[in-house]
Amino acid sequence: MAEWNEKVEGKVVVITGASSGIGEAMARLLAAHGAKVVLGARRADRLESIVGEIRAGGGHALAWTVDVRKHAEVKALVKAAVEHFGRVDVMINNAGYMPLSPLAADKVEEWDQTIDVNVKGVLYGISAALPVFQAQGHGHLINVSSVAGHRVFPDAAVYCGTKFAVRAISEGFRQEVGPHIRSTIISPGAVESELASHITHAPTAEAVKGLVDVAIPAEAIAQAVLYAIRQPAAVDVNEILIRPTAQTF
Ligand SMILES: NC(=O)c1ccc[n+]([C@@H]2O[C@H](COP(=O)([O-])OP(=O)(O)OC[C@H]3O[C@@H](n4cnc5c(N)ncnc54)[C@H](OP(=O)(O)O)[C@@H]3O)[C@@H](O)[C@H]2O)c1
Repeated sequence: MAEWNEKVEGKVVVITGASSGIGEAMARLLAAHGAKVVLGARRADRLESIVGEIRAGGGHALAWTVDVRKHAEVKALVKAAVEHFGRVDVMINNAGYMPLSPLAADKVEEWDQTIDVNVKGVLYGISAALPVFQAQGHGHLINVSSVAGHRVFPDAAVYCGTKFAVRAISEGFRQEVGPHIRSTIISPGAVESELASHITHAPTAEAVKGLVDVAIPAEAIAQAVLYAIRQPAAVDVNEILIRPTAQTF
């Protein structure tokens, strides 16, 4: 067995949804440990400013504008990582959208967007990264699910459906890809981020305010990702569930 806590230094890590919240925290933490990080999201200004700060601190980072709902754009993100840094060691499908509402509110357009970002975006990340992993003979896929991928709540049927799907897809990936490619599901509970700001259904937005009070910093999730990446190649951390201590469900 290789050394425990292998070096993250030099690993090339692609992160979707890196312009805020958990993805931003992952990019900053992994870069601080010497990873070469490729930050993908739609808000180019936010990405450029985070990348600027990482580089100013001596880190290696690249900003790449991507809409994960578009297959060709996710392919281009991974291609850019390979062209810039030579390979992809870790692909983190983190981009997510959570416009919670009851089904009876009939927010069909929000259902479509939630499925497109949270499920199809993850599949497009796999489509882009898996051929690179296979050609390299190694790789690590990290998909961000949620406590909502383990339990279903009122007003969250569609979001929970997408996060259950992320776990199912990740497990299918794990079983299919063979002995040299790793697969990790990260399932956070309430975390400080911009995620709840997308809720347009006013009573639901009001109801989730209590969660904001117990939310833990996004770096708590980034630390879990760091742990999974640092394990020796033969050790595959398949799933981590992280809640605030004060979260009851
Ligand atoms: N915060 C929590 O309590 C919590 C709990 C469990 C799971 N999660 C999961 O954690 C992940 C990160 O969310 P967060 O909490 O950090 O929320 P956040 O601050 O809102 O971050 C979401 C990220 O996803 C990106 N994104 C959204 N739509 C996109 C698209 N179409 N294409 C590319 N990027 C897109 C956003 O960037 P742009 O807008 O710039 O594109 C942003 O960087 C999500 O998968 C979420 O479901 C969060």
